[in-house]
Amino acid sequence: MKVLVMNGSPREKSMTRNLTNTITDQLDEKGIEVLTFDAGFHDLPLFKGRKEDLNHPEVLRLVNHATKADAFVICSPEYHNGMSGALKNALDFLGGSHFKHKPTVLASVGGGGKGGINALNNMRTVMRGLYALVLPDQFCADPTCFDDKGYMIDDKAKERLTVVVEEFVSLTKTIEHDVEVK
Ligand SMILES: Cc1cc2nc3c(=O)[nH]c(=O)nc-3n(C[C@H](O)[C@H](O)[C@H](O)COP(=O)(O)O)c2cc1C
Repeated sequence: MKVLVMNGSPREKSMTRNLTNTITDQLDEKGIEVLTFDAGFHDLPLFKGRKEDLNHPEVLRLVNHATKADAFVICSPEYHNGMSGALKNALDFLGGSHFKHKPTVLASVGGGGKGGINALNNMRTVMRGLYALVLPDQFCADPTCFDDKGYMIDDKAKERLTVVVEEFVSLTKTIEHDVEVK
């Protein structure tokens, strides 16, 4: 099983990257192969619908990973009540063929309090447009969930994240198994 883990934050010091690192560690522990896209490291051009941009090395890398992936973990910071523009730009380079019949779990990091839920709702609407099989369960973190080194230190958040990741892996395995049987 290959999972593409996406960090939608373009920021150098990103809380959402702390979250994707935590999820990646959990997937690694389960022996699952992880592919990555990080909007802070993998600089995509702005999507303009130009053919020549499809040969950009970062576009090729993203499309290649999305094609290979059996499932997706998509994480975004909440910016102005929605997902990051960087994540939406990355998704605009992909299409339904990359996501159809593939389990996808959504997670976000907000500014604190009740932040993060609007980004999740926005991501859910967009992923429906991309035909992803989005899990009903989702995860939302506050910046206070992490220490200075980026480790998740909030036990309740960690527990909740583990449940969501296990549900995601279980659904992905079920779908893979059903496809193999057919
Ligand atoms: C441009 C911008 C807009 C933001 N808008 C919101 C918001 O609407 N709701 C919220 O809860 N937090 C908001 N925040 C706070 C971020 O969600 C928070 O700092 C988060 O940790 C950012 O993740 P990142 O470090 O991975 O970029 C905003 C931050 C920025 C930079």
